[in-house]
Amino acid sequence: MAQLWTEKHAPKKLDEVYGNRESIDFIRKWALNWQRGQPQQPLLLFGPPGTGKTATAKALALEMGWSLWESNASSLRDAKSVQRVIQPAMQQGTLFGERRLVLLDEIDGAFDRGEVPALLEAVAKANQPLVLTADDVWNPKLSGLRASCSKVEFKKIGKIDVKKVLQSIAEAESIQADVAAIAENAQGDLRAAVIDLQSGSQSPRLKKKNVFEAVRRVFKATSFQDAMDAGEEADVDFDLFSRWIEENIPVEYTDAKDNARALDALSKADVFAGRIRKRQYWALYKFQRAFTLAAVAAAKQKPYHQFTAYKFPSYIRYLGQTRKSRAALKSATQKAGSLLHCSSRKVKQDVAYYKKAGGFFGWDDDEKSAVGAQDLVPHHGRGKRQKNPKNETG
Ligand SMILES: Nc1ncnc2c1ncn2[C@@H]1O[C@H](COP(=O)(O)OP(=O)(O)OP(=O)(O)O)[C@@H](O)[C@H]1O
Ligand SMILES: [Mg+2]
Repeated sequence: MAQLWTEKHAPKKLDEVYGNRESIDFIRKWALNWQRGQPQQPLLLFGPPGTGKTATAKALALEMGWSLWESNASSLRDAKSVQRVIQPAMQQGTLFGERRLVLLDEIDGAFDRGEVPALLEAVAKANQPLVLTADDVWNPKLSGLRASCSKVEFKKIGKIDVKKVLQSIAEAESIQADVAAIAENAQGDLRAAVIDLQSGSQSPRLKKKNVFEAVRRVFKATSFQDAMDAGEEADVDFDLFSRWIEENIPVEYTDAKDNARALDALSKADVFAGRIRKRQYWALYKFQRAFTLAAVAAAKQKPYHQFTAYKFPSYIRYLGQTRKSRAALKSATQKAGSLLHCSSRKVKQDVAYYKKAGGFFGWDDDEKSAVGAQDLVPHHGRGKRQKNPKNETG
């Protein structure tokens, strides 16, 4: 069955992590000290993408026989979540007193400055080995954390090591590939190299097919390449196609575990989508695609042979159904804005307070009912929403 080689061939012990020898040795000593009962400062692994930071933390847990506790985006969302979720993970012992490695992955992308005091407090109290990772260690919001961690640098992986990894994967998978060319192209990013190896040579652009057919081909795919090709075929853009996949994961995968694995793959795709949006780093696009297509296809343990009636994404259906009321809301806020001498956007924020003033603003029935359907939004909940101006103007 198709599976992402970055996961299938991820290192299972520290010796299988290539490059950055000194850093790996340092991490090993750090872990052995913990094992001897000597608490150590948290580690902050930093360096460019695809150099093995996350993979090292996971291999370390496997090698030491420690359980692994990984943060996810919501546990780092705000100071309260940090206190509620992360602090206990770092402080409570495990049932039989064995160690637990706590991994706070990609902290530079995960939280805002506001969470730093809570994290620092958690870090200071940690009684379990703690590993943080970040791409950019000089990110100002990490300055407090930097000081309370041992910093371990991950440099780009040298071509010789990249080639070694590619060769051993190619052997294990019995495929032929120009590993030298892939290694050259990867520029020290081993994840990129492994994904390039798996996707093989770029297949010629296929004729666009109906989106239902493309969705079916993704779910039924039995190889990495089939799933990636199927994604090429859809005659809609990729973001929209992702919605189709998302909607239909529970439709296709009736097995709960397959379903969970597929949704997990999609959440990883979303991490890359977020980085692309934030940094305009389009080099990551292929990873977003690999997780949305190939990893979702690989989530199934057995092929599903039944016929599935795929569903139209409910998100798009919802936008279609609400188009009229969104338009009415927009014109209502514009009318009110011009009378109140402020932007329609400002009116929209507080529009629920104006429900009874429709006559004054000259709203028609559609506009009145569109406003009537709005809820009062507490003020503190608004900061996040404003980041996306599209939502504001409807
Ligand atoms: N040094 C390495 N040795 C062996 N495999 C590696 C190494 N670096 C990366 N890989 C392969 O690439 C995959 C992705 O690497 P990993 O997730 O550890 O990168 P990362 O440094 O955490 O990147 P990011 O900053 O994007 O999170 C791994 O699962 C593994 O298959
Ligand atoms: Mg990582």
